Amino acid sequence: MRFPKFRVGKTASGTSSTMATAYRGSLVKSYEKSRKNNPKWAFEEDTLRTVMNAIDPSEKRIVADIPVGTNRFYQFLDDDPEIKIVHCIDNSVDMLIESMMRTSSKFFYSRCDMIDEGTPIVSDTVISYRFLNLFDFNTIEKILANLCHSSRRNLIMTIRLSESHEESGSVFQNKIHIHSRARFDEALAANDFEPVWEKGYADEKPGEYFTLHARRNGH
Ligand SMILES: C[S@@+](CC[C@H](N)C(=O)[O-])C[C@H]1O[C@@H](n2cnc3c(N)ncnc32)[C@H](O)[C@@H]1O
Repeated sequence: MRFPKFRVGKTASGTSSTMATAYRGSLVKSYEKSRKNNPKWAFEEDTLRTVMNAIDPSEKRIVADIPVGTNRFYQFLDDDPEIKIVHCIDNSVDMLIESMMRTSSKFFYSRCDMIDEGTPIVSDTVISYRFLNLFDFNTIEKILANLCHSSRRNLIMTIRLSESHEESGSVFQNKIHIHSRARFDEALAANDFEPVWEKGYADEKPGEYFTLHARRNGH
């Protein structure tokens, strides 16, 4: 498989190429090791299981993990016989190569910028973990539109939200943005999706971290 080269310089949002190039080299190699002992990692895995196991088998024949990162959900997705195809999508070549360490005949990999381009691949269910808080709200409006466009039915994501109407500037060392709950729900509705289930993760940090399952309206 051949990958195109990274574009250099600022994109329209000014953030996407910077963010993708941040996920390379040694950070990719240490990404999972330095995170998976944190209880939040287990919370994310548990909630993904809960939602995926509740989804009708007809709505998870084709699944996409966007951005796939290290392909952390590989075993769970591979073991589910109802899932026939998994699209692994990321904008970082190094992450894609790392994700390919975990593979079977139902896994397919593609490079894609989910901010400015989106993906032409349409799946029944899209998983998007640890992504939406990396960007400011204007950028996540674009990402959400692209994620919703690529899902026929379900979108399962993690997101840190606040009841305040103000979006916070980036906080924490890893530059996490906290988005307004109301604005986030509006952005989902603008793309014809609505939240149907959520579970919060208690920590000391500002806002509340959720796994959130949204469904396309009318389905
Ligand atoms: C914090 S990691 C999350 C990875 C995985 N979902 C997880 O839960 O571990 C963020 C991922 O977003 C990818 N990424 C950053 N900007 C992107 C963009 N514009 N389009 C697609 N992927 C992007 C990075 O390469 C990285 O793999």
